[in-house]
Parts: sequence; C-alpha cells; structure tokens
Amino acid sequence: MAYYWYKAFHLIGIVVWFAGLFYLVRLFVYHAEANQQEEPAQSILKKQYEIMEKRLYNIITTPGMIVTVAMAIGLISTEPEIMKSGWLHIKLTFVVLLLGYHFYCGYIMKQLEKDECNWSGQQFRLLNEAPTLLLVVIVLLAVFKNNLPLDLTTWLVVALVIVMLASIQLYAKKRRKDKERMLQINEEAQVTSGN
Ligand code: HEM
Repeated sequence: MAYYWYKAFHLIGIVVWFAGLFYLVRLFVYHAEANQQEEPAQSILKKQYEIMEKRLYNIITTPGMIVTVAMAIGLISTEPEIMKSGWLHIKLTFVVLLLGYHFYCGYIMKQLEKDECNWSGQQFRLLNEAPTLLLVVIVLLAVFKNNLPLDLTTWLVVALVIVMLASIQLYAKKRRKDKERMLQINEEAQVTSGN
C-alpha cells in the first residue's frame, strides 16, 4: 500500500514542480521585457517580478521538486529491485538534467535581482521549451519502461511535440513584430501631427 501512496505523491509533486518551472521562466520573460519600459514603470515592474519569482521558486517550485524526489526515494526503498531496471537509469539521467535546469533557474533569478542578466525575453521563451522536452522523455520512460517502442508512432509523437514548440515560438515572434510595427506607426503618426 505504501508504494501507491509514494507513487500518488510522486505524481502530485511532479505537477507542482513543473507548474512552478513553467511559470517561473514566463516571469523571467516579462522581467526581461520590463527593460523596454520607461521609468518609473520599469523599476516598479522589475521589483514586482522579483517578489513573484522569489515566492514562486521558494514556495511552489522547490517544494514540488523536494516532494517528487522524496517520494521517488520512498518508491525505491519499498521496491529496491527497481533500481536494477535499465529504464530507470536512463530516466535518472534526464532527471539530473531537470535538476540542473531547476538550479540554473534559481541562479538566473538571482542574476535578474542584481540586474546582471542580459538575456532577452526571446531567449527566455526558448529556455522555457527545455522542461517540456524533458517532461515528455521522462514520462514516456516512466510509463513504457523497458518497452518504449522506437517505432513510427513514437517518432510521430516526438515530431508533434517539436512542431508544437516551434509554433509557439513563431507565434510569439509574429506578435512581437506586430507590436513593433504598431509602435512605429504610432511614432510616425505623432511626428506627422506635430508637423
Ligand atoms: C529522483 C528522481 C526520480 C526517481 C528516482 C523516480 C523513480 C520512479 C519510480 C521508482 C517509479 C515507480 C515505477 C512503477 O511503479 O512502475 C516512478 C513512477 C513515475 N515517475 Fe518517477 N522518478 C523520479 C523523477 C520523476 C520525474 C521528474 C518525473 C516526471 C517528469 C517522473 C515521472 C514518473 C511517472 C509519470 C511515474 C508513473 C509511471 C507509472 O506508474 O506507469 N519521475 N518514478
């Protein structure tokens, strides 16, 4: 019975952890884009994002990660045989990458707070795709285990995820271009009316 409790909270921890990771980097996008605002709006926005990022990281994201890992340890301690499975070793390699991503986000958060991060909103948008890829690979490994088929269906799923991520990036790029064009039109209209 303990095994099922551990698994249930392992899954709950994953949902919380990923919700935090996705929203955190979205906040980094807004934080970086606040640099385009005039003062005092820029300082006010940056201060607000700093508070939101810190709370999200410390109260949601990191506890989500701790619950996920603690429950995984519980799962393994109740079924130690599982440690011999090949799929788990591959999964753990990707989990290490995910943990690296988590702590790197914590580092970026501190850099943003000190105003020492030169990343653009676009770069943060790209960074935000990394956990999606890790999520897909880790869940596929956890569900299929050693039977993960490397047939057409799997590659179609992978291709679909990549197309979805690329479409999100292209849509964001189009919106940015539209916004720049609108700003340019407004500036030209102001110059013309001033004349
Ligand atoms: C410390 C790292 C982790 C370890 C040691 C670990 C280990 C385990 C173990 C032993 C199970 C039970 C497998 C079974 O009963 O069949 C499991 C289930 C699962 N894990 Fe993890 N896990 C870790 C992190 C993660 C992460 C980060 C994710 C998602 C991104 C994840 C997704 C899942 C899923 C979806 C299941 C349920 C699979 C099923 O019941 O079919 N795990 N994990």
